[in-house]
Amino acid sequence: MQEIKFYSGENIPLELHKVRIVQKLNLVPVERRMEALYEGGFNTFKLSTRDVFLDMLTDSGTNAMSDNQVSAMLRADDAYAGSQSFERLQKAVEDVLDKKYLLPVHQGRAAENILSEAYIKKGDIIPMNYHFTTAMAHITLRGGQIAELLYDEAYVINSDHPFKGNMNIEKLEEVIQSYGPENVPFIRMEASTNLIGGQPFSMQNLRDVRAIADKYGLLLVLDASLMGENAYLIIQREEEFKNADMETVIKLMTGLSDICYFSARKLSCSRGGGICTNNTDVYKKLQVFVPLYEGFLTYGGMSIREVEAMAVGLYEVWDETIVSQSPIFIKYLVDSLDAKGVPMVKPAGVLGAHVDAMQICSHVPQNEYPAGALAAAFFLISGVRGMERGTLSNQRDENGVEPLANMELLRLAVPRRVFTLSQIKYVEDRMAWLYENRHLIGGLRFIEEPPVLRFFMGKLEPTSDWPQKLMAKFKEDFGDSL
Ligand code: F0G
Repeated sequence: MQEIKFYSGENIPLELHKVRIVQKLNLVPVERRMEALYEGGFNTFKLSTRDVFLDMLTDSGTNAMSDNQVSAMLRADDAYAGSQSFERLQKAVEDVLDKKYLLPVHQGRAAENILSEAYIKKGDIIPMNYHFTTAMAHITLRGGQIAELLYDEAYVINSDHPFKGNMNIEKLEEVIQSYGPENVPFIRMEASTNLIGGQPFSMQNLRDVRAIADKYGLLLVLDASLMGENAYLIIQREEEFKNADMETVIKLMTGLSDICYFSARKLSCSRGGGICTNNTDVYKKLQVFVPLYEGFLTYGGMSIREVEAMAVGLYEVWDETIVSQSPIFIKYLVDSLDAKGVPMVKPAGVLGAHVDAMQICSHVPQNEYPAGALAAAFFLISGVRGMERGTLSNQRDENGVEPLANMELLRLAVPRRVFTLSQIKYVEDRMAWLYENRHLIGGLRFIEEPPVLRFFMGKLEPTSDWPQKLMAKFKEDFGDSL
């Protein structure tokens, strides 16, 4: 992709798209934001967008769609079976992902459900670079365990390692040998490892994992939800690929996997998801679960409009200007906050800027959810909604013990082509203020804790009157400003 320089020498990310449909946002007063927090149990998942200014909860299903995607939705061929829209999607999967079989599902976790149902039995172990919440929940529900095999540098917040999502090859082999390959139904590699700050793996690492899979006759499953961004960062950071295009890198990545599944909510700026493979036996084994859990094999629980949007969106993953927009904005935000001393996950990854709550809230014990508290505090003083990615997002083990997370992060998602640069600058400004006032942030405790995926619907409360004190300081410094 060609660089665009400013004569002034400033490093400004330039939008290579124009806005044609807009949605008005609400920036409500801080008093209303406080009420909204109490109503939503200090859980940003439970806020209404009526009260949210910039929705940085996730990039899932919130990336901007292209004109070509929206127009394709109008020609949707609404048929229960044999829809031509599905044929177009299948062709896109063949062209872009280089896989001949596609099983459509309603979103990424439905693919995880089917894969777990088909392959996992009690006592199995699934090696992965790192877990994703829903992937882990489906595996443990079937009595499987996960082994997270990152290298130590993955956990270093302030790092310049280009590929923190790499799987530790030596540990992978150790795990396979100690549990026995017969108890390893597959190896899972997650592109742009979400929970450690959207950090990519290198192509070389994926090749090395493939070699181990071949040595022990194991299946390699690629979670390709954030594969476009991982491919972009391979081009940016891996010498061998510096002149490669997205099409080539993506085909190499999917080609190294036996099964590739994805959340289309991320990968193709649409909704839905899919599982794809070139292996006929795998396809036949998984196929039976689609009509059972999702819908017929030519729509998989998706609306046909989404099938059309996904087909066009998949081709758009070849366009580096589209895929790179989010990582470039994230890098701008991470670098500018870093320059102000705010501890950020570095190098900047994908899907969002990740703020290190462990450091900012070092005075809040981990069992009082520092990242959840930072998310609530940031919403209170800015109207910006981020997502906790730390202990709160973990699940209790079979004895009810809450594992403390390796990292306590506040994720500020930057969906593709949604926010403008002045909005990013607002985020930077408010976060810099909060950092200076971080001592005012306190802890949270559960008042209602669901047994599964508790972070989605759980209700919490502050452990003291810290939100009121933080609001008072905000009003002192900002006066009548929203
Ligand atoms: N895999 C990865 C790497 C993901 O990031 C997600 C979702 C899924 C699987 C599940 O896909 O939501 O379509 O069922 N990530 C969202 C997020 C929820 O906010 O990061 P899904």
